Amino acid sequence: MAILGIETSCDETAAAVVTGAGEIRASVVASQAELHVPYGGVVPEVASRRHLELVSPVVGAALEQAGASLDDLDAVAVTQGPGLVGALLVGLSTAKALAWAQRLPLVPVDHLHGHVASLYLQPTDLEPPFTCLLATGGHTLLLDVQGRTREEMRVLGRTLDDAAGEAFDKGARLLGLEYPGGVQIDRLAREGDPEAYSFPVASVAGLDFSFSGLKTALLYTVRGLSSAELEARRADLAASYQRAIVRALVRRVEAAGGDTVAVVGGVAANSELRASLPDAVAPPLALCTDNAAMIASAARFAAPARPAEYLSLDAYATAS
Ligand code: KG4
Ligand code: ZN
Repeated sequence: MAILGIETSCDETAAAVVTGAGEIRASVVASQAELHVPYGGVVPEVASRRHLELVSPVVGAALEQAGASLDDLDAVAVTQGPGLVGALLVGLSTAKALAWAQRLPLVPVDHLHGHVASLYLQPTDLEPPFTCLLATGGHTLLLDVQGRTREEMRVLGRTLDDAAGEAFDKGARLLGLEYPGGVQIDRLAREGDPEAYSFPVASVAGLDFSFSGLKTALLYTVRGLSSAELEARRADLAASYQRAIVRALVRRVEAAGGDTVAVVGGVAANSELRASLPDAVAPPLALCTDNAAMIASAARFAAPARPAEYLSLDAYATAS
């Protein structure tokens, strides 16, 4: 069984070939991050156009890496949403065309289910139940995962405002770091003192999160510094800011409890978060940020769309 996965929800054009047992035979990710650097964030229309240029070569490269041809595939999986609609449509249209031409089942995949399914790939192959922190650029969720289908994931808590990844990206911008900000803060924080500044960790009721106050606190701190001071304190600010985000995430994970804890999504690549949750199961770094192997993985636990009817499938922008 070989599943071709396609992911184009944001600024990564990705394709992968995964077996029914969750073995990755190929995974290709073409990042467009460089294209968006001058704008300090993803420009949707620029992303869509770039996906259009990249999607065919990226699918070709994944098949080549797997040593497979279209005839060796058993299904096509694609991210249907949430994400940028124009960007999603490029992947969805490509998947429809390939599936239709090859007479293959098409499996529409929810991007967030995909992130969780990164844990079901070899060699991690995590078996539910577990408590899962899902932290990406657009979402921060605490999930109770009882089974491998999307329907078996229950939301325990979510962010009331910014996502953790968004807090990293906005914070990086305030610090004058390049897009994408999370990895830049992670890198710079290693040279700074995480106790230099005391940034607030929001206390929200239940298992929800809030990061907008933290971002505002950084904004006011940066405003109070001259450019020379900012230059001198940038690493301390990055380290302290990262500490506050990680503390907020860890507190909620600990409050949720559960025998097994897992972290997924781009923010799960953060070195301090990983170090702060030493017992948590996390995918390898390359499977934390957007990729298509996780989409093909999720398709193993999702229903294919009905033949012919799938041609009218539409993308969705926000999580349902
Ligand atoms: O899952 P992902 O690749 O895309 C979305 O689905 O949004 O997550 C991207 C987010 C961005 O906000 C990025 O800054 C953040 O993950 N990120 C990190 C790190 N690597 C990526 N945040 C903190 N530390 C990192 N090392
Ligand atoms: Zn993602």
